[in-house]
Amino acid sequence: KETTDVPIIIIGSGYGGAVSALRLCEAGKKVVLLEMGLNWEKAGIPFSNLLKPGKSSAWLKKKSIAPFMNLFSLTPFTGTLDRLEFDHLNIWVGRGVGGGSLVNGGMAVTPKESYFREVFPNLDAEKFYSHYFPMVREELKVNVIDEQFLKECPYYKFTRVGEEEAHKAGFKTIRVPNVYDFKYMEKEYLNEVPRSALNTEVIYGNNHGKNSLDKTYLKKAMETGNLEILDLHRVNHIKLNEDKSYSLNVQQIDTSGKVVTDKVFNCKKLILAAGTMGTLQLLLHSHAVNNLPVHEKIGKNWGNNGNFMTGRNWVKPLSGGTGSKQSTIPVGGIDNWDDKEHPFFTEIAPLPMGMDVATALYLLINRVDKKGEVGYDTINQKITLNWDESNTIKMRENAKYFIRKMNNANGGTRSHFLFNNGFGPDICYHPLGGCVLGEATNEFGKLRDHENLYVLDGSLIPGTIGVNPFVTITAIAEYCIENLIRQNEFA
Ligand code: FDA
Repeated sequence: KETTDVPIIIIGSGYGGAVSALRLCEAGKKVVLLEMGLNWEKAGIPFSNLLKPGKSSAWLKKKSIAPFMNLFSLTPFTGTLDRLEFDHLNIWVGRGVGGGSLVNGGMAVTPKESYFREVFPNLDAEKFYSHYFPMVREELKVNVIDEQFLKECPYYKFTRVGEEEAHKAGFKTIRVPNVYDFKYMEKEYLNEVPRSALNTEVIYGNNHGKNSLDKTYLKKAMETGNLEILDLHRVNHIKLNEDKSYSLNVQQIDTSGKVVTDKVFNCKKLILAAGTMGTLQLLLHSHAVNNLPVHEKIGKNWGNNGNFMTGRNWVKPLSGGTGSKQSTIPVGGIDNWDDKEHPFFTEIAPLPMGMDVATALYLLINRVDKKGEVGYDTINQKITLNWDESNTIKMRENAKYFIRKMNNANGGTRSHFLFNNGFGPDICYHPLGGCVLGEATNEFGKLRDHENLYVLDGSLIPGTIGVNPFVTITAIAEYCIENLIRQNEFA
């Protein structure tokens, strides 16, 4: 086997991995980042759009895996979007250099301070709101749509209708910031530049406009000259050596998923940033096959961030519905968080199907009253999820309440077109927790029972944050890596 020795390895190039890479490289450290997905920019392969799923649309699948309408056959390719299937929940994740930033909707939401304090009672909230959150919004290039453009652009009719209906039903709406460059979008609309958000590109990647991590944190990290990114490198398991260093069993694959080289990487310091489910798979699988020590809290305090999808049909069908033209980038949300009985936030989501389906789609984000747990199945060598309908009872109640109120005020029916009975409790975009900060790790993400192993990704957040999570994941990673570097952990 080909063997490589390096001082610091990061596994995964999503938010946690990108932040760690930049700050370590700036501190003069040489870093190797292993990413199982493709480096799309280097490969020069364009992303495909929702209406014509192609190479980028799925991770080694024979059929498309969008949340709805999967009528498309595919030749397996290392695409950007993957779906992990559990008994009662499907979890979508991003694959490729940039991780989830390649496929997500770019909604860059800072959590409510009161909820942040509740979720992280031991963190210095003042410092997060005065320093870390503003810093990551700048690094991620967060911006806000121009109100006049929103008012006039036909591609935002779904947002205007959604907000109008919400107000009529007595709900409060908010403008949602995004990492998609709205100045670029205005030019797209005028046909001055190639279209991306206005050409149904999003969950299979954006060819233009979106400031994904490869254009922000990872780009800056590469510019230091200290970072090497190896794409199509999948880490299978980790071994703790006697001298407290780690050996990684890695397979380099080609774009059809075939293994081309088996490799071993040895490192003194290892950062797991493989995303919530990826990091848990690595830890629990390595425990099973290599006896890697795992603390009893690993796998505990997991949640779906209260994700609960729902929709309504026959939204204003006679007056043009939600529009046949829709931008893929959401900019509107309904904030019902202060309602003590039905606290939730919901995204007014686009449904760009190329025709007017007079349907409104909503992704509710609720509190997570009952947390789940991630375990391991030794026969299939895969993580399992202890999560079922009992975990989503309150979320369903909120969704029912929301749809009823919207329909009473505006007409419309529950969406049987999108979901079995109008609700999608089994769709999750925001898996969080399982390696919770201060529980499975120390206060800065160093794993308990280890001296040289760190976790820096969504798994640090205890299952819920009340809004779309990447701004929080980025801020927590900044906080942890800053303190780990200060403590000379990587000296
Ligand atoms: P992330 O998942 O980003 O990165 C992990 C990386 O590790 C991946 O690139 C993966 O391929 C790699 N990896 C995993 N296992 C590996 C292994 N064994 N070896 C090598 N590499 C490995 N959030 C938000 O705030 N606003 C939004 O609008 C949206 N919208 C949205 C839409 C969709 C469709 C999805 C799927 C998700 C969102 N999200 C979102 C969620 C957001 O994208 C998500 O929370 C973050 O990407 C998680 O960041 P992490 O750093 O935890 O890991």
